[in-house]
Amino acid sequence: MNLEIIKSNIGDNFFCLIADGEGRAALVDPVDGEQAVERVRRAGYELELLLNTHFHPDHVSGNPTVLKAFPQATVIAGEADAEAIDAQFAGDGERGVDETVTGGDIVELGGISLEVLDTPGHTPGHISFLTDHHLFSGDTIFVGGAGNCRFGGDPGVLFQTFRDVLRKLPRSTVFYAGHDYAVRNAEFLLSIEPEHPETLSVLEEAKRARDEGRLMQTTLGRERAYNAFMRFDDEELNRALSSRFADELDAAREESEGENEAVFRCLRSLRDKW
Ligand SMILES: [Fe+2]
Repeated sequence: MNLEIIKSNIGDNFFCLIADGEGRAALVDPVDGEQAVERVRRAGYELELLLNTHFHPDHVSGNPTVLKAFPQATVIAGEADAEAIDAQFAGDGERGVDETVTGGDIVELGGISLEVLDTPGHTPGHISFLTDHHLFSGDTIFVGGAGNCRFGGDPGVLFQTFRDVLRKLPRSTVFYAGHDYAVRNAEFLLSIEPEHPETLSVLEEAKRARDEGRLMQTTLGRERAYNAFMRFDDEELNRALSSRFADELDAAREESEGENEAVFRCLRSLRDKW
């Protein structure tokens, strides 16, 4: 698989261009349509797929530009977000979603098989695409963080995605997120656990990546070592929250079915205010 991670000239997004050995290509969330088209043309690829992880405009608004250049491409999105994507384009007579998918479906790109994972929480129909140990994760997990739940999301559902999906994938899985919030996220984590050695080293790497305009990448295994959203059952983290943010943790417990969910909700709400 050939993979390019592209920094968008619109917003603070990153998006991906994937191709198999014969130049059959897919774009994931190409918000910056013009740059996406140019990259596909420059590489000499044939664009077969336009994959949307979720309905937010900063992930789908490049679709019409891409489809004008490559009308043969198929637009694929999660079932529960498709209507919200279509609604953004129908009024302009633009194409919406061509095919909806749900967890367990396989999307074929020439010689590459992409497995669809249901990863709701940031939005109801958020999906991710997994091939080998590469995860195109949209706004589900970030280096040092988790997607927000303010625009159609639900922190209880996002917790289940972390517990039942992300925590069960191999530790070697590298993920590609839609934004780089790594510096802010690491600083936030240090406000809870100021001495955490892995967070301190992630912060240094994140600053370097930001300065070089690169999307910082880690593995899910590395995230499990320091990203608090992946450590909802970690006793040390629970002690840190209980001593510094007892009221917030108590409030989260009232909305949660168990302590792990309460920790996750507490983190999400602290990060929203941070
Ligand atoms: Fe989003």
